[in-house]
Amino acid sequence: MSSFLIAPSILSADFARLGDDVAKVLDAGADVVHFDVMDNHYVPNLTFGPMFCKALRDYGVTAPIDVHLMVKPVDSLIPAFADAGADIITFHPEASEHVDRTLQLIKQHGCKAGLVLNPATPLSVLDFVMDKLDVIMLMSVNPGFGGQSFIPTTLEKLRLVKQRIIESGREIRLEIDGGVKVDNIKEIAEAGADMFVAGSAIFSQPDYQVVIEQMRAELAS
Ligand code: DX5
Ligand code: ZN
Repeated sequence: MSSFLIAPSILSADFARLGDDVAKVLDAGADVVHFDVMDNHYVPNLTFGPMFCKALRDYGVTAPIDVHLMVKPVDSLIPAFADAGADIITFHPEASEHVDRTLQLIKQHGCKAGLVLNPATPLSVLDFVMDKLDVIMLMSVNPGFGGQSFIPTTLEKLRLVKQRIIESGREIRLEIDGGVKVDNIKEIAEAGADMFVAGSAIFSQPDYQVVIEQMRAELAS
Protein backbone atom coordinates (compact mmCIF):
# COMPACT_ATOMS: atom_id res chain seq x y z
CA MET A 1 0.00 0.00 0.00
CA SER A 2 1.16 3.49 -0.79
CA SER A 3 1.74 6.36 1.57
CA PHE A 4 0.37 7.03 5.01
CA LEU A 5 -2.76 9.14 5.21
CA ILE A 6 -3.60 11.49 8.07
CA ALA A 7 -7.32 12.01 8.57
CA PRO A 8 -8.30 14.62 11.16
CA SER A 9 -11.62 13.84 12.83
CA ILE A 10 -13.76 16.96 12.65
CA LEU A 11 -15.59 15.75 15.74
CA SER A 12 -12.99 17.83 17.58
CA ALA A 13 -13.16 20.82 15.20
CA ASP A 14 -14.81 24.14 15.97
CA PHE A 15 -18.42 23.49 14.89
CA ALA A 16 -19.23 27.18 14.91
CA ARG A 17 -16.56 27.74 12.26
CA LEU A 18 -16.55 24.32 10.64
CA GLY A 19 -15.69 25.33 7.07
CA ASP A 20 -12.81 27.53 8.15
CA ASP A 21 -11.50 24.94 10.58
CA VAL A 22 -11.59 22.15 7.98
CA ALA A 23 -9.86 24.41 5.43
CA LYS A 24 -7.25 25.24 8.07
CA VAL A 25 -6.46 21.62 8.88
CA LEU A 26 -6.19 20.76 5.17
CA ASP A 27 -3.86 23.73 4.62
CA ALA A 28 -1.85 22.36 7.52
CA GLY A 29 -1.16 19.19 5.54
CA ALA A 30 -4.00 16.77 6.33
CA ASP A 31 -4.86 14.26 3.60
CA VAL A 32 -8.47 13.30 4.32
CA VAL A 33 -11.41 14.73 6.27
CA HIS A 34 -12.77 12.17 8.76
CA PHE A 35 -16.48 12.82 9.25
CA ASP A 36 -18.01 11.18 12.34
CA VAL A 37 -21.75 10.62 12.04
CA MET A 38 -23.46 9.74 15.35
CA ASP A 39 -27.17 9.16 15.88
CA ASN A 40 -27.73 8.86 19.66
CA HIS A 41 -28.95 5.33 19.00
CA TYR A 42 -26.07 3.18 17.81
CA VAL A 43 -23.75 5.39 19.87
CA PRO A 44 -24.66 7.67 22.78
CA ASN A 45 -23.84 10.94 21.05
CA LEU A 46 -25.25 13.09 18.26
CA THR A 47 -23.35 14.92 15.53
CA PHE A 48 -24.11 15.80 11.93
CA GLY A 49 -25.61 14.39 8.73
CA PRO A 50 -25.31 14.67 4.95
CA MET A 51 -26.21 18.37 4.84
CA PHE A 52 -23.00 19.18 6.71
CA CYS A 53 -21.02 17.10 4.25
CA LYS A 54 -22.60 18.94 1.31
CA ALA A 55 -22.00 22.26 3.05
CA LEU A 56 -18.28 21.48 3.26
CA ARG A 57 -18.22 20.63 -0.46
CA ASP A 58 -20.11 23.83 -1.27
CA TYR A 59 -17.63 25.74 0.86
CA GLY A 60 -14.84 24.49 -1.39
CA VAL A 61 -13.43 21.45 0.39
CA THR A 62 -12.02 19.19 -2.33
CA ALA A 63 -10.10 16.71 -0.16
CA PRO A 64 -11.48 13.19 0.20
CA ILE A 65 -14.23 12.94 2.82
CA ASP A 66 -14.19 9.75 4.89
CA VAL A 67 -17.67 9.27 6.34
CA HIS A 68 -17.69 7.10 9.48
CA LEU A 69 -21.28 6.05 10.07
CA MET A 70 -22.07 5.30 13.71
CA VAL A 71 -25.78 4.96 12.99
CA LYS A 72 -28.43 2.25 12.97
CA PRO A 73 -29.95 1.58 10.51
CA VAL A 74 -27.22 2.35 7.99
CA ASP A 75 -28.59 1.88 4.47
CA SER A 76 -31.00 4.81 4.32
CA LEU A 77 -28.14 7.31 4.77
CA ILE A 78 -25.83 5.94 2.10
CA PRO A 79 -27.40 7.56 -1.01
CA ALA A 80 -27.62 10.89 0.81
CA PHE A 81 -23.96 10.83 1.81
CA ALA A 82 -22.86 9.78 -1.67
CA ASP A 83 -24.85 12.69 -3.14
CA ALA A 84 -23.40 15.01 -0.51
CA GLY A 85 -19.85 14.32 -1.67
CA ALA A 86 -18.55 11.42 0.43
CA ASP A 87 -15.61 9.49 -1.03
CA ILE A 88 -15.35 6.70 1.53
CA ILE A 89 -18.22 5.36 3.63
CA THR A 90 -17.55 3.01 6.53
CA PHE A 91 -20.03 1.41 8.91
CA HIS A 92 -20.19 -0.97 11.85
CA PRO A 93 -21.36 -4.51 10.97
CA GLU A 94 -23.47 -4.64 14.14
CA ALA A 95 -25.55 -1.77 12.75
CA SER A 96 -26.49 -3.46 9.47
CA GLU A 97 -28.92 -6.36 9.05
CA HIS A 98 -27.20 -7.36 5.79
CA VAL A 99 -23.54 -6.42 5.73
CA ASP A 100 -22.86 -7.66 2.20
CA ARG A 101 -25.86 -5.72 0.88
CA THR A 102 -24.73 -2.53 2.63
CA LEU A 103 -21.24 -2.85 1.16
CA GLN A 104 -22.73 -3.30 -2.31
CA LEU A 105 -24.98 -0.30 -1.80
CA ILE A 106 -22.00 1.92 -0.95
CA LYS A 107 -20.12 0.79 -4.05
CA GLN A 108 -23.18 1.17 -6.28
CA HIS A 109 -23.23 4.79 -5.21
CA GLY A 110 -19.66 5.28 -6.35
CA CYS A 111 -17.94 5.38 -2.95
CA LYS A 112 -15.21 3.29 -1.41
CA ALA A 113 -16.60 0.93 1.19
CA GLY A 114 -15.30 -0.09 4.56
CA LEU A 115 -16.15 -2.00 7.71
CA VAL A 116 -15.41 -0.65 11.18
CA LEU A 117 -14.56 -3.07 13.96
CA ASN A 118 -15.16 -2.02 17.55
CA PRO A 119 -12.56 -3.02 20.13
CA ALA A 120 -14.50 -6.19 21.03
CA THR A 121 -15.70 -7.07 17.52
CA PRO A 122 -14.12 -10.33 16.30
CA LEU A 123 -12.24 -10.50 13.01
CA SER A 124 -14.69 -13.14 11.76
CA VAL A 125 -16.93 -10.30 10.51
CA LEU A 126 -14.37 -9.94 7.71
CA ASP A 127 -14.99 -13.49 6.49
CA PHE A 128 -16.54 -13.66 3.01
CA VAL A 129 -16.54 -9.87 2.44
CA MET A 130 -12.84 -9.15 1.93
CA ASP A 131 -13.44 -8.92 -1.83
CA LYS A 132 -15.80 -5.98 -1.30
CA LEU A 133 -13.67 -3.96 1.11
CA ASP A 134 -11.59 -0.91 0.20
CA VAL A 135 -11.00 0.01 3.85
CA ILE A 136 -10.95 -1.81 7.16
CA MET A 137 -11.07 0.51 10.13
CA LEU A 138 -10.24 -0.64 13.64
CA MET A 139 -11.64 1.35 16.52
CA SER A 140 -9.00 1.77 19.19
CA VAL A 141 -11.59 3.33 21.53
CA ASN A 142 -15.27 2.55 21.98
CA PRO A 143 -17.16 4.73 19.50
CA GLY A 144 -19.08 7.81 20.51
CA PHE A 145 -16.59 10.35 21.81
CA GLY A 146 -13.32 12.01 20.98
CA GLY A 147 -10.50 12.38 23.45
CA GLN A 148 -10.40 8.80 24.77
CA SER A 149 -7.25 6.75 25.35
CA PHE A 150 -5.93 4.23 22.81
CA ILE A 151 -6.79 0.64 23.83
CA PRO A 152 -3.45 -1.23 23.64
CA THR A 153 -4.90 -4.61 22.55
CA THR A 154 -5.72 -2.93 19.23
CA LEU A 155 -2.05 -3.26 18.25
CA GLU A 156 -2.31 -7.06 18.13
CA LYS A 157 -5.59 -6.78 16.27
CA LEU A 158 -3.93 -4.50 13.70
CA ARG A 159 -1.21 -7.08 13.12
CA LEU A 160 -3.79 -9.82 12.54
CA VAL A 161 -5.86 -7.70 10.15
CA LYS A 162 -2.75 -6.59 8.26
CA GLN A 163 -1.89 -10.23 7.75
CA ARG A 164 -5.36 -10.93 6.40
CA ILE A 165 -5.06 -8.00 4.00
CA ILE A 166 -1.73 -9.28 2.72
CA GLU A 167 -3.20 -12.77 2.28
CA SER A 168 -6.15 -11.32 0.35
CA GLY A 169 -3.79 -9.83 -2.22
CA ARG A 170 -6.04 -6.78 -2.39
CA GLU A 171 -5.30 -3.10 -1.85
CA ILE A 172 -7.24 -2.46 1.32
CA ARG A 173 -6.50 0.53 3.54
CA LEU A 174 -6.06 -0.26 7.23
CA GLU A 175 -7.42 2.70 9.14
CA ILE A 176 -7.16 3.29 12.88
CA ASP A 177 -9.55 5.49 14.83
CA GLY A 178 -9.27 6.60 18.43
CA GLY A 179 -6.55 7.89 20.73
CA VAL A 180 -3.96 8.39 17.98
CA LYS A 181 -1.27 10.84 19.14
CA VAL A 182 2.23 11.92 18.12
CA ASP A 183 3.71 9.61 20.76
CA ASN A 184 1.96 6.41 19.64
CA ILE A 185 1.51 6.83 15.88
CA LYS A 186 4.80 5.09 15.07
CA GLU A 187 3.97 1.86 16.89
CA ILE A 188 0.48 1.92 15.39
CA ALA A 189 2.03 2.15 11.92
CA GLU A 190 4.47 -0.63 12.75
CA ALA A 191 1.49 -2.81 13.66
CA GLY A 192 0.11 -2.28 10.15
CA ALA A 193 -2.07 0.84 10.00
CA ASP A 194 -1.66 3.15 7.00
CA MET A 195 -4.49 5.64 7.59
CA PHE A 196 -4.67 7.52 10.88
CA VAL A 197 -7.69 9.30 12.28
CA ALA A 198 -6.76 11.90 14.87
CA GLY A 199 -9.22 14.32 16.44
CA SER A 200 -8.25 15.76 19.78
CA ALA A 201 -4.51 15.36 19.12
CA ILE A 202 -4.75 17.83 16.23
CA PHE A 203 -7.62 20.16 17.03
CA SER A 204 -6.57 20.74 20.65
CA GLN A 205 -3.34 22.33 19.47
CA PRO A 206 -2.98 25.95 18.37
CA ASP A 207 -0.93 25.07 15.28
CA TYR A 208 -2.29 22.06 13.35
CA GLN A 209 0.67 22.05 10.98
CA VAL A 210 3.10 21.44 13.82
CA VAL A 211 1.20 18.35 15.01
CA ILE A 212 0.75 16.93 11.51
CA GLU A 213 4.44 17.44 10.76
CA GLN A 214 5.35 15.75 14.05
CA MET A 215 3.13 12.81 13.12
CA ARG A 216 4.73 12.53 9.67
CA ALA A 217 8.18 12.75 11.22
CA GLU A 218 7.30 9.86 13.56
CA LEU A 219 5.99 7.85 10.63
CA ALA A 220 9.20 8.46 8.69
CA SER A 221 11.52 7.65 11.61
C1 DX5 B 1 -15.07 8.17 17.97
C2 DX5 B 1 -14.74 8.73 16.61
C3 DX5 B 1 -13.34 9.17 16.42
C4 DX5 B 1 -12.90 10.25 17.35
C5 DX5 B 1 -11.42 10.27 17.40
O1 DX5 B 1 -16.29 7.53 17.94
O2 DX5 B 1 -15.01 7.77 15.62
O3 DX5 B 1 -13.12 9.54 15.07
O4 DX5 B 1 -13.36 11.49 17.00
O5 DX5 B 1 -11.05 11.23 18.31
P1 DX5 B 1 -9.67 11.18 19.08
O6 DX5 B 1 -8.59 11.25 18.06
O7 DX5 B 1 -9.74 12.38 19.97
O8 DX5 B 1 -9.64 9.88 19.85
ZN1 ZN C 1 -14.41 8.11 13.53
